[in-house]
Formats: sequence, structure tokens, C-alpha cells
Amino acid sequence: MSNDSTNALNNETRDAWNSNASVWDARMGDDGNDFHQVLIRPAIERLLEVKTGTRILDIGCGNGLTTRRLASLGAQVVGIDFAEEMIASARRRTQQHETSIEYHVLDATDETALLGLGERSFDAAVSAMALMDMAEIDPLLRALTKLLQPGGCFVFAVMHPCFNNTYVSMAAEVKDCEGQLVSEYSVKVSGYLQPSTTKGLALENQPKPHLYFHRPLHVLLGAAFRAGFVLDGLEEPAFPSDHPSNTRFYSWSNFTQIPPALVARLRFSDE
Ligand SMILES: C[S@@+](CC[C@H](N)C(=O)[O-])C[C@H]1O[C@@H](n2cnc3c(N)ncnc32)[C@H](O)[C@@H]1O
Repeated sequence: MSNDSTNALNNETRDAWNSNASVWDARMGDDGNDFHQVLIRPAIERLLEVKTGTRILDIGCGNGLTTRRLASLGAQVVGIDFAEEMIASARRRTQQHETSIEYHVLDATDETALLGLGERSFDAAVSAMALMDMAEIDPLLRALTKLLQPGGCFVFAVMHPCFNNTYVSMAAEVKDCEGQLVSEYSVKVSGYLQPSTTKGLALENQPKPHLYFHRPLHVLLGAAFRAGFVLDGLEEPAFPSDHPSNTRFYSWSNFTQIPPALVARLRFSDE
């Protein structure tokens, strides 16, 4: 992608997230929605295996949900986001562990700015539901190979590229199974292989749709492999069947056999 087109996409993305920041902050609060609490946070924590005193970079930190949580587990955390309004919410919500947390307004597509955080200064990096919102990921992955200590890992959660992309429509059907009415939930996938950039919603009531950068698995992971990472952990979390059902049929909590997110651990070794 040329610098001009990346800049235009970045400006549009930043503008949308600044406009959506207060609605996002109100919805996520201090502790996240059930999508975050049930699917994203536990998988990230299992893969990250946080140890006291480790230094972690949180990329696309939003209102600081994961940043604060990792600090409460004993880590030193640097949260970055390029939307100033998101960082303002994150700072407002940080009332505890202040000495373990730093926030910076920083564009994760800017390799030079990322390297300014300090080469070899992080034990691990994390990104919760942000890579599919980024216009480019190669600069970030390249920078991470220099920001991380050898053996360090990068754990990321994204919308599942196969089942939860902007080509997907969701369906609920009812069938009579020997006298019992049974609901069946499914997704129809009309596209996958072609990377695409389309507008969409992360929250129903967000003021401005934002850009989604759909990357099929071979593109997403291919960028990581090209940068020198290997994949050494993977989860596909879905809501458990005993999770309270939601009256909105299209809530992911009804689709208990289809994972709406993919959480992966990449490992960097400079040997
Ligand atoms: C869906 S929100 C997730 C926020 C947070 N990680 C969470 O789980 O609540 C995506 C975030 O990525 C940020 N983002 C998108 N592109 C970015 C970029 N190029 N550099 C830094 N942050 C970016 C947005 O500003 C937004 O705050």
C-alpha cells in the first residue's frame, strides 16, 4: 500500500474511533462487555501467561481495558492507541496501578514511532480486537521483532476471519424435531479469500461506522511469518451453551458452535 493510501485510510479510521470513543467507553466500562469477559480476556490471559514484573505492550488499547487488567495481574504495561479520545478515556479510567501503566497516542502502522518505545524493552505484546481495524499490519509485526526480547510473544485477538467478517450474514431458523421446536443458528459466508476494506459496526449504536480490514488467515499469519514469528498457540473461543441466551437472535451468545474470535500467540526468536 502506498503511504498516501495508508494515510488516508488511517485518517478515516482514527476519525471514526475518535467519534466512537465515548460510546465505546460507556459500553466497555472498567471491565468490558460479555464478549470481552467470556471470550477475549480469558483466552488472552491463558496464552499470555502473565508473570509479575513483565513489561507488556498493549496495541490498540482503546479505553485501557486490557492495559489495566494486565497491570492488576502484576505487569508493567504500556498502552498505545492512535485515537486521542480513546487514550483520554483510558487515562480517566486508570485510578489504580497508575505507576505500572503508561499510555501513549501512537499509530501502530508507524514503524519508526513504534521503535521509539525502546528496542528489546518488552517481554510480551498484546492486541485485543484491534488488528482488523488497522490499515496495515506489516510495520507493526516488523517493529515487534525489535521491540520484544528474544523469545518474547505477541498475543492477539481478532474477529475470526472465517466466521465473523464483513461478508458474513447470520441466520436463525426453527425446526420441528419430532415434536420439539429447536432453534438452529448459522452463518452464511459469501466471501473470504480476498482481503477487503469495508465499513462496519463494532457496536450497534456507534455514531460512525469504521473501516474493517479483512485479512484471510494466509494473509494475516503470512505477515507474521514473513516478519520472523512462529505460531505457537491458538484458541477459537465461542460462548458456552449454558451462557444466558440473548433475545437478539444475532447475538454471538446464541452461536455456541461458531467462534466469533480467533486468539493467537506468535513467538519471536532471533536465533
Ligand atoms: C475495537 S477497538 C479495541 C480496543 C481495546 N483493545 C478493547 O479491547 O477494548 C480497536 C482500537 O484500535 C485502535 N486502532 C485502530 N488502528 C490503529 C492504529 N493504526 N494505531 C493504533 N491504534 C489503532 C482504535 O483507535 C481502537 O481504539
